[in-house]
Amino acid sequence: MESSLGILLVLVTMAIIHIVEAEDQGFISLDCGLPAYEPFPYKETRTGLWFFSDENSIQTGKTGRIRENPEGFAKLYETLRYFPEGIRNCYNLSVEKGRTYLIRASFVYGNYDGLNNNPKFDLYVGPNLWANINLQLVNGTREEILHIPTSTSLQICLVKTGETTPLISTLELRPMGNGSYITDSGSLKLFFRRYYSKSGSNLRYSNDVYDRIWKSDFKMEWTQISTALKVSNSNHYVPPEDALRNAATPTNTSAPLTIEWSSENPDDQYYLYEHFSEIQDLQANETREFNIFLNGEVFADPIIPKKLETITSFSVSPRTCDKGECSLQLVRTNKSTLPPLLNAIEVYTVIQFPQSETDENDVIAIKNIESTYGLSRINWQGDPCVPQQLKWDALNCRNTNMSKPPRITSLNLSSSGLNGTIALGIQNLTQLEKLDLSNNNLTGGVPEFLGNMNSLSVINLSGNNLNGSIPQALQNKRGLALSVEGNPNLCLSDSCRKPPKKKVLLVPIVASVASAAIVIAVLVLFLVLRKKKSTAVEGLHLPPRMATVNATFANSPEPSFDQKSRRFTYSEVIKMTNNFQRVLGKGGFGFVYHGTVNGSQVAVKLLSHLSTQGYKQFKAEVDLLLRVHHTNLVSLVGYCYEGDHLALVYEFLPNGNLKQHLSGKGGKSIINWGVRLRIALQTALGLEYLHIGCTPPMVHRDVKTPNILLDEHFKAKLADFGLSKSFQVGGGEAHESTVIAGTLGYLDPEYYNSGRLGEKSDVYSFGVVLLEMITNQPVISEKSHITERVGNKLDRGDIHEIMDPNLCRVYDSNSAWRALELAMSCTDPYSANRPTMSHVIIELKECLVCENSRISKDRGLESQEMTINLDTSEVPGAR
Ligand SMILES: *[C@@H]1O[C@H](CO)[C@@H](O)[C@H](O)[C@H]1NC(C)=O
Ligand SMILES: *[C@@H]1O[C@H](CO)[C@@H](O)[C@H](O)[C@H]1NC(C)=O
Ligand SMILES: *[C@@H]1O[C@H](CO)[C@@H](O)[C@H](O)[C@H]1NC(C)=O
Ligand SMILES: *[C@@H]1O[C@H](CO)[C@@H](O)[C@H](O)[C@H]1NC(C)=O
Ligand SMILES: *[C@@H]1O[C@H](CO)[C@@H](O)[C@H](O)[C@H]1NC(C)=O
Ligand SMILES: *[C@@H]1O[C@H](CO)[C@@H](O)[C@H](O)[C@H]1NC(C)=O
Ligand SMILES: *[C@@H]1O[C@H](CO)[C@@H](O)[C@H](O)[C@H]1NC(C)=O
Ligand SMILES: *[C@@H]1O[C@H](CO)[C@@H](O)[C@H](O)[C@H]1NC(C)=O
Ligand SMILES: *[C@@H]1O[C@H](CO)[C@@H](O)[C@H](O)[C@H]1NC(C)=O
Ligand SMILES: *[C@@H]1O[C@H](CO)[C@@H](O)[C@H](O)[C@H]1NC(C)=O
Repeated sequence: MESSLGILLVLVTMAIIHIVEAEDQGFISLDCGLPAYEPFPYKETRTGLWFFSDENSIQTGKTGRIRENPEGFAKLYETLRYFPEGIRNCYNLSVEKGRTYLIRASFVYGNYDGLNNNPKFDLYVGPNLWANINLQLVNGTREEILHIPTSTSLQICLVKTGETTPLISTLELRPMGNGSYITDSGSLKLFFRRYYSKSGSNLRYSNDVYDRIWKSDFKMEWTQISTALKVSNSNHYVPPEDALRNAATPTNTSAPLTIEWSSENPDDQYYLYEHFSEIQDLQANETREFNIFLNGEVFADPIIPKKLETITSFSVSPRTCDKGECSLQLVRTNKSTLPPLLNAIEVYTVIQFPQSETDENDVIAIKNIESTYGLSRINWQGDPCVPQQLKWDALNCRNTNMSKPPRITSLNLSSSGLNGTIALGIQNLTQLEKLDLSNNNLTGGVPEFLGNMNSLSVINLSGNNLNGSIPQALQNKRGLALSVEGNPNLCLSDSCRKPPKKKVLLVPIVASVASAAIVIAVLVLFLVLRKKKSTAVEGLHLPPRMATVNATFANSPEPSFDQKSRRFTYSEVIKMTNNFQRVLGKGGFGFVYHGTVNGSQVAVKLLSHLSTQGYKQFKAEVDLLLRVHHTNLVSLVGYCYEGDHLALVYEFLPNGNLKQHLSGKGGKSIINWGVRLRIALQTALGLEYLHIGCTPPMVHRDVKTPNILLDEHFKAKLADFGLSKSFQVGGGEAHESTVIAGTLGYLDPEYYNSGRLGEKSDVYSFGVVLLEMITNQPVISEKSHITERVGNKLDRGDIHEIMDPNLCRVYDSNSAWRALELAMSCTDPYSANRPTMSHVIIELKECLVCENSRISKDRGLESQEMTINLDTSEVPGAR
């Protein structure tokens, strides 16, 4: 008993250790159909790689085992998964977006079903055809491509094309090195990969770090040269050393070295990669130099192989061969005393995957709906919309242009046995036009969000068990065809509709404060920009209009809070701050003190007197703010209003504000790029919540680096939203020019021209914050604005010149570029051109992914990076 437990533990430990190793390398090795009772990975004997069961990567299919093995295929090919049900069955694999992967799938029939019925079927990558698999011609076959996934999950699908049942034996994914196998467009399908030796044995892992399979090949008219010495293989392609230790040269030393192949498809476009290494000991008077010709056309500059090092020659753009007959010749130059040599070669054809995958958010939403209702439809696999003939049933999609992601426009789950409430996920199908949920067993109310879905014009909810009333938003929606009959508990008359909630009066406050602030801001701006071009000044008529905030009510439950417990007496304030002992800072409104409430730390802002608003107004606002809860917003704990004493009590954040960390002032550390991106993302999430998650929506109006506070884990929380502005004007200190100038740089120019305040004004300010985080430049210096200065540098195209030098160039430049482009679009002078915060969030997440993959790669390649000699060892062929 004990010993078997011991063995089990060892096995588990080994598996875990190996899973960690495999993950570091990023290899995915699936032995398809390995039964569930063999849950542990096993070490494949030839490669020493651990192979796993495919159980966790696919939900469908059955497992089988071959009965005949005339060609003696290895253990790896003994089991398989076959798909008697459904047209399309898909593997779902987690990958790194934007990384090149070698994807290899193999198929062995072996009469597993005893029917001697060799199958024929298609293989897809996402919505695109990869290969036709025909096992009627061969006992087993393998497909291999180099492909860059466009999202973090990769779908490999088997598609039934006739009567026979698709099957698969192995599926392997190998992430490749950065900078290798780059194409103009499309992916690369392996045509052949050879190394030149008479050994007759194939090379793959661990000879090849990427587990490419190299077949040995040799021709009669060649002479083999070999070396036992170490050959350095460090370039982007890392061909296996064992391949480089051998080479072919023509036996007739004045003849060219020729490789020929032909293709059934004369339009095939080729990418060739030849790997060379000088493995002979050359005398001082000897040279080896040769040209590469493809079908008589010179292909590259003359090659001079480097002694015991690697040169990879490759085509920068694809080549075609006349009539599908290709002839590659290495011809010695008249300078050369030695014949040409070739160690290894790879030939790929271009395969286009033109069809975009369905919009990622639509896919997430529909999967969410699927799981909410526990739907399990065999055809709901792979891409929901494309290819057209395999689209999921119950859906219709808009797919006007292959290069644009299709969108889901109709969802018909009529008579599908749905129970529970109407799924929230539906609101995320933002292009939905028709929704049919009729004849199910749905309960609960008709959700308000249906009225806010702009495209939705047909809704059928008839024949369910819905109750409550029809929300106002739906009743008011124009051009909507709504069917609700056959819901006995649904109230259709006006009498039972809930009275509309009273609007909270945020608008007039913001408006009045805003207009006063604008007057000041414009005056200051006028002073600052007086010497600028006249057009800028012309735009500055004093804004007469009221600022407006859209006040709409989202369908959110009323938060419950105990107002009394949030209200503090002045003596409690004195006690919590220990008689105002520790000053944390000073803002436009007054001093901020450190305090303690029930053992947790708080920041107490003492406010100057209110001159224009009375207690009722103050309380309405505070009540509103007390209900705003978001992890990226500094939350208001309570307030004090007693005679002349006004105070707001906030949660305390120990790590100061973003401005201090960018400047390194006050002993604050300078934060790295990844953390900056994270802070930007968190700030954006807080803002998005104010804009669309809050009832009524709010415009922050004062987004700037000093207002972004950091907690002990450097999580960002946005401070001073909604309220502080109301108090600045009456308070007096707002007239300090520094306060206004600081705010001025963040002020949306369209807003101070038009007086119209909207969410996009916050987007502008956020863009300025992002620029500060990227560049660490002052927002206004020498009368120029940060957007102008960055814009000027942008033209020169050197990201390092723009980025904060304190970052010491430690960042992924893709992510830096993206962030920069995002910041520039946020600060577009026209609010209509600025993205929404939701869009900003999507972009920032992608920046973070790039940066994180750089970090993990740097870690993984640390030791290698010391020796990699970039560029010099590779000779791109001429176009
Ligand atoms: C694929 O797997 C990932 C995580 O493993 C999941 O988030 C995603 O929804 C899956 N996609 C499909 C289409 O099943
Ligand atoms: C499978 O292999 C056997 C033995 O090598 C051979 O005789 C047979 O023709 C092969 N079948 C196919 C379909 O290639
Ligand atoms: C790959 O390397 C190139 C330079 O060799 C670099 O520009 C690019 O950002 C890198 N990509 C990733 C994803 O690291
Ligand atoms: C060697 O190659 C050259 C050039 O292709 C050719 O002219 C010559 O006849 C060849 N010699 C022999 C012995 O084949
Ligand atoms: C190179 O020099 C060696 C003697 O050092 C001589 O035997 C040989 O013929 C020379 N080769 C050529 C191509 O000149
Ligand atoms: C080598 O050949 C080129 C043309 O192929 C010719 O222009 C050049 O003069 C030749 N050089 C010698 C040293 O023979
Ligand atoms: C599809 O979109 C691409 C880029 O958005 C555009 O270049 C192309 O002309 C469009 N094709 C059609 C058929 O509309
Ligand atoms: C819906 O029905 C399934 C089975 O019919 C049941 O397991 C589930 O609890 C039901 N859900 C609700 C919300 O009633
Ligand atoms: C809708 O999408 C948003 C953001 O993409 C996500 O946060 C939310 O959870 C989704 N809601 C549902 C119900 O899927
Ligand atoms: C609908 O649900 C109710 C309660 O869960 C159940 O009594 C009823 O039989 C269901 N009707 C159908 C058609 O499934």
